[in-house]
Amino acid sequence: MKLIIDTDPGIDDAMAIAYAAAAPEIELIGLTTVFGNTHVHQSSRNARFLLDKLGIDAPVAEGAPVAQGADTHAPSEHVHGPEGFGDVTDIPQIGSNHSLSAAEYLVEMARVHKGELVVCAVGPLTNIAAALRLDPEFAQNIARLVIMGGAVYCPGNITPHAEANIYHDPLAADEVFANPPTTVVVGLDVTLRTLYEGADFDGLAEQSADMGGFLRDISKFYLKFYKDVGGLEGCGLHDSTAVIACTHADMFTMVETGLQVVADGPEIGLTRPDPSRPVVHVCCDVDGAGVVDLFTQRVASLP
Ligand code: RIB
Ligand code: CA
Repeated sequence: MKLIIDTDPGIDDAMAIAYAAAAPEIELIGLTTVFGNTHVHQSSRNARFLLDKLGIDAPVAEGAPVAQGADTHAPSEHVHGPEGFGDVTDIPQIGSNHSLSAAEYLVEMARVHKGELVVCAVGPLTNIAAALRLDPEFAQNIARLVIMGGAVYCPGNITPHAEANIYHDPLAADEVFANPPTTVVVGLDVTLRTLYEGADFDGLAEQSADMGGFLRDISKFYLKFYKDVGGLEGCGLHDSTAVIACTHADMFTMVETGLQVVADGPEIGLTRPDPSRPVVHVCCDVDGAGVVDLFTQRVASLP
């Protein structure tokens, strides 16, 4: 399966990219970057670093620096660290970005790989909304869009109502849900049932010294956030769960409903069912232990 991950790496983004590199069903043809966990130039640098570390020769196309209609953005430094990789801050600049913007690259790849390309968006949906606007055929050209975002039937994580990716650009998210391609929504409803603990990272690092060791090192900061803020002993495999949903739909239970995003007020970023909207497939249950095991098995095979 040909896959582009639209990403803001980001600790759990790095885990998802490592998973995609290790999964035999996935051909990772490129990454597109967006603001979110970091500033977009940090997302792009981190994405290029990860591809190099994984030995993948694929482009990184840089996307939106800020949300639609907004001119400010504060990265989630308290969650992902000052450079996106927790306490690891000496991340080299490797190579350079693709000449196309993220939205242009997505549109182009969807034309080239018409009907075959899956786009997995694991950051704010700004680039996806831009691609849908740029090419009216983009929605039909891709096989499907799989989104890590939203908290449809459970509380949010960045506010009591909103999940972080949707909260960072509610207008873009609402634009996508107003006129969606074939879409699977992998929100907190399922990603908080895939907790990865410190001992899991240690085991991963024993089997995969380089990549697993890197993920263990960057995760310490992330695990501390989950413990301090949520009292949890592990972190959600948010973005990895979305990548796994691209190829293992049978591990998820989904409901069909339209979605609307609250664009202002105290509930800004809330994703709520809206029967008047086109249907998307919202994951409401998951084989969480199966996702954790699959992630470990695949990433442990990396050097
Ligand atoms: O809410 C989880 C999402 O927001 C993930 O994509 C993660 O990277 C974060 O910032
Ligand atoms: Ca992310």
